[in-house]
Amino acid sequence: MRTIAHISDIHFGKDDPAVAEALVGELHGQKPSLLVMSGDFTQRARAGQYRRAAEYMARLPGPQLVVPGNHDIPLYNVLARFGWPLYNYRRFITHDLRPIYEDPELLVIGVNTARSWTWTFDGFWKDGRISEEQLLDIKLRACDHPPEQFKVVVTHHPFVPPPRERPHGIVHGAAEALAAFENCHIDMCLAGHLHMGYSGDVRTHHEAVKRSILSVQAGTAISTRRRDEPNAYNLITINPDHVTIQVHAWNGGAFEKTLRTHFTRDEGVWQREG
Ligand SMILES: [Fe+2]
Ligand SMILES: [Fe+2]
Repeated sequence: MRTIAHISDIHFGKDDPAVAEALVGELHGQKPSLLVMSGDFTQRARAGQYRRAAEYMARLPGPQLVVPGNHDIPLYNVLARFGWPLYNYRRFITHDLRPIYEDPELLVIGVNTARSWTWTFDGFWKDGRISEEQLLDIKLRACDHPPEQFKVVVTHHPFVPPPRERPHGIVHGAAEALAAFENCHIDMCLAGHLHMGYSGDVRTHHEAVKRSILSVQAGTAISTRRRDEPNAYNLITINPDHVTIQVHAWNGGAFEKTLRTHFTRDEGVWQREG
């Protein structure tokens, strides 16, 4: 059994200090096998915001696996946006844009979906992208691993839109990526970006995918940029054919358990059990 504490979209610069402080003790209390942070460390990719984000991440439990988000690329400094988009991310957070975590039961691969032109055109590019080179890289790093290992891919941008909303925010290249994930026996995708927590089988949105792959979204852990949901994080318990996603949401004074979703894999298909 493994546990992943999945936080996302901490957005330093638009953070809530009280929530942030409470989350530190909360996450240490969970003693997760791995802490995942799926992007948007900052609001505007400024050095001061990155410095605070880095200091904060250093206070959270390890091991940690992190990926950048679209807000981690400068918005107004066009020169920096295209010339050295993740300079501050590399300087303050990590140089590693291809992070990997591995133990005998669990393989987790991080993929950078943030792009410089994210903000340039209205709509089309803001949702990030996975390139062919990145898919090849994932294949090289994941395909040869033993089937007993539970395999997870972490991105900032999601593969599945929120239920009951128009499809938006989906990473470009999702169909090609999921075909590659299928071949490499990926079991679950983790992402953020929309500041909404939800989960399900990727095939609810991608009918061509044959393999049942779980898609799990985390809300924003500590940011004031909320979308009709409280600040929250997911504690994900993983057994090979059983996954439980326990949402822990801020109630104004503490994090408390709210929605709990359990999936069982029956003949290769993830079934939601509540
Ligand atoms: Fe965000
Ligand atoms: Fe984002």
